[in-house]
Amino acid sequence: MLLGTNMPAALPGCAGLDARRAPQLMTSPRRCPCRAQPRRPQCAVTQEVAGTTQVRRNENIGKLQAGYLFPEIAKRRRLHQEQNPDAKIISLGIGDTTQPIPPSITRAMRDAAEGMGTIEGYSGYGAEQGRPELRESICSRYYAMHGLQAEEVFVSDGSKCDIGRLQVLFGQQMSVAVQDPSYPVYVDSSVIMGMTDGFNGSGYDNIQYMVCRPETDFFPDLSKVKRTDIIFFCSPNNPTGAAATREQLTELVQFARKNGSIIVYDAAYSAYISDERPRTIFEIPGAQECAIETGSFSKYAGFTGVRLGWTVVPKALKYADGATVHADFNRISTTIFNGASVIAQAGGLACLQPEGYREMGQLVDYYKENATILRQTFKEMGFTVHGGENAPYVWVGFPGRESWDVFSEILTQCNIVTTPGSGFGPAGEGFVRASAFGQRDDVLEAVERLKAKYGK
Ligand SMILES: Cc1ncc(COP(=O)(O)O)c(C=O)c1O
Repeated sequence: MLLGTNMPAALPGCAGLDARRAPQLMTSPRRCPCRAQPRRPQCAVTQEVAGTTQVRRNENIGKLQAGYLFPEIAKRRRLHQEQNPDAKIISLGIGDTTQPIPPSITRAMRDAAEGMGTIEGYSGYGAEQGRPELRESICSRYYAMHGLQAEEVFVSDGSKCDIGRLQVLFGQQMSVAVQDPSYPVYVDSSVIMGMTDGFNGSGYDNIQYMVCRPETDFFPDLSKVKRTDIIFFCSPNNPTGAAATREQLTELVQFARKNGSIIVYDAAYSAYISDERPRTIFEIPGAQECAIETGSFSKYAGFTGVRLGWTVVPKALKYADGATVHADFNRISTTIFNGASVIAQAGGLACLQPEGYREMGQLVDYYKENATILRQTFKEMGFTVHGGENAPYVWVGFPGRESWDVFSEILTQCNIVTTPGSGFGPAGEGFVRASAFGQRDDVLEAVERLKAKYGK
């Protein structure tokens, strides 16, 4: 209860006095601190007691639906465990890694941590954009051959955080397109920024959902997509596991250039590509004038908890007025970020040395084998299966069924957590995603349970 015993006088416009202003006052408690008895039930005064402050909630947060997908899954898993305390639940759900970080990389981080306890090895704030030698290493491993330079690489505490910082860079006036289905962070961060209108039952108004279904090889029909300022595009895709071909990415780049749009290309899983598909959007001619790319050590080296990623902003990418996006992203990074952890950056440097790079490859191969096991199992059981070849995700079709129902069925009958496809966008309905980031024994056990329930 905010108000004291000495009742302040009603402000002009109090709903108790003027019913026409009532709706405005209900969301604006500061306007009237009076305790006048409401003449009508919707009087603002009755609403005021709910809060402990007079601060209005960010109305964009209020537009978000039912919390973020993964906390919702965690809640349902917790409930199932409470109801079945003996159940040994296996997670093929959230895409979190399970395998230890390889030895040469942990050694480098250990040395960096020990160094922090010595005068010689101590380091305080570093460059917000990352250690120059790490920017150089990322660039020479992944981008230099496509004409990019180390200053165009910004080291960060991960791709998800960079997507948030990119949204701050863009501001709320941008229009946005996303693959449907896709990693929920693009949509939810756009909603939080105020780029969208409310939820309409299946998606948010004012976002272009670029439908990606098996019929179109999980690539959007761009002839049906309206121009937007920003296009979020993830390849290999989370959740479908589809990796775009060179022809598809060429079409995307041409589409963006024709429309004067910026592609935010999420390449967090590009190390999982096994064939000749592009590892980076910058393999496509003209991409430097229309694309930003984000990458991450999370799924390459088990850095989900360590936190290290990067974003490449080419200097050739320019706004309509000719200003470079690079200069603005540099300003954002130096203003609201203070650089990635010194220890994580030492680990990142080790990842890109010959030994660490080889170890990283072995880690990726381990998860890829899990993906193959899952993919084959679902196929043998007669399901339509996508992904799992160039990605750590297997996308399984349950036509005509709601994904949350399938999720619940697999949880209650097999004690396995998956991810319901509809959580990734309206076009994910009828699918569930199985993640290959589990321990091998768990994956093998999960496979046996699935066969027992769904096998022929
Ligand atoms: C497509 C995609 N991008 C980015 C991330 C987050 O990466 P990071 O751990 O670097 O924040 C994830 C994590 O699951 C992801 O699936």
